[in-house]
Amino acid sequence: MGRAKKAVLAYSGGVDTSVCIPYLKEEWGVEEVITLAADLGQGDELEPIREKALKSGASQSLVADATEDFITNYAFPSIQANALYENRYPLSTALARPLIAKLLVDAAAEYGADAVAHGCTGKGNDQVRFDVAIAALNPNLKVLTPAREWGMSREETIAYGERFGIPSPVKKSSPYSIDRNLLGRSIEAGPLEDPWTEPLEEVFLMTQAIAQTPDEPEYVEIGFEKGIPTRLNGQTLSPVALVTQLNEIAGRHGVGRIDMLENRLVGIKSREIYEAPALLVLIQAHRDLESLTLTKDVTQYKRGIEETYSQLVYNGLWYSPLKAALDAFIVQTQERVSGTVRVKLLKGNAFIVGRKSENSLYSDDLATYGADDRFDHKAAEGFIYVWGLPTRIWAEKLRG
Ligand code: ARG
Repeated sequence: MGRAKKAVLAYSGGVDTSVCIPYLKEEWGVEEVITLAADLGQGDELEPIREKALKSGASQSLVADATEDFITNYAFPSIQANALYENRYPLSTALARPLIAKLLVDAAAEYGADAVAHGCTGKGNDQVRFDVAIAALNPNLKVLTPAREWGMSREETIAYGERFGIPSPVKKSSPYSIDRNLLGRSIEAGPLEDPWTEPLEEVFLMTQAIAQTPDEPEYVEIGFEKGIPTRLNGQTLSPVALVTQLNEIAGRHGVGRIDMLENRLVGIKSREIYEAPALLVLIQAHRDLESLTLTKDVTQYKRGIEETYSQLVYNGLWYSPLKAALDAFIVQTQERVSGTVRVKLLKGNAFIVGRKSENSLYSDDLATYGADDRFDHKAAEGFIYVWGLPTRIWAEKLRG
């Protein structure tokens, strides 16, 4: 592949990505490492992270404020797609990776770098998402992945870093592997590796333990325009404000926790804990609004599209021709998905208790059992005769 001269490294401030800086320079002969820390609403203070990169040997340390881009262009489209991997995981981590990849590729162009780098290990999905997204955006860039190749244990990594003035973690490092952004948190490893072991309360940050949640329900009304969430309780909010506030409200009621075994792209089953309060409530509410505003055939056909979409996003194909084609379908379906959904939050549950829309296809004079029923009951007989004809013929043949 030839040596890289200048690399832009995705940087989190943790030990692994910090050690990547001297490692790239010393072991792989990269002349200059520029770090890029993305703010995706994870709540970290970014100035100390920026400084740490410089102390660890970066020539420049960039911070990208990407939260709005993240919610608007990655999270909201996936809400329109009702995207849940294996029917449960709302892709909070997976959605961040194509955006970080784009930031890396853009920075490489801006600073004249011939490579980008990340600190993913070789066992996860994130490496796939980065590598494939980077290739899709600029197939000429080299992708350097030191942590996938250095084969150092945790202790060895820390010791390597200390040789270059990277301080070892001050507190005893957590047994968990955690990823976080405004959409949610994923928690893996440590005691959670045993799928029979219940997660300790300490792993959760965005959601309250059920024992601590209010005894009274709280109602929240979510407004959508063309499948995009725009209002909370009647108030129009920016995408970031809406997700931030809904995280708070739903999290307070213990809504948004997931404990699942998940099939990674690399073939491994892993035990995952997630919390994604707003994202899960938004998908649930959005799907409900679709049930009011989409025709039966579009609703049902879209389920299959959603399944494929979720797998594509999980499997790192955000920037791919099939994903673009599915996007076009999904956006088309959202034309009339506008309205309001009423959600009741109580003790870890989000119940949809009401929905309304100017584009409602619900017709009470068809659905009613009352006097003003306008459904033509006599039409049912002929319909059922034709509908059941193949079954009737089959039964006559079989049973005589
Ligand atoms: N299993 C989840 C996913 O594939 C979470 C990955 C967490 N990543 C991390 N670097 N801790 O999306």
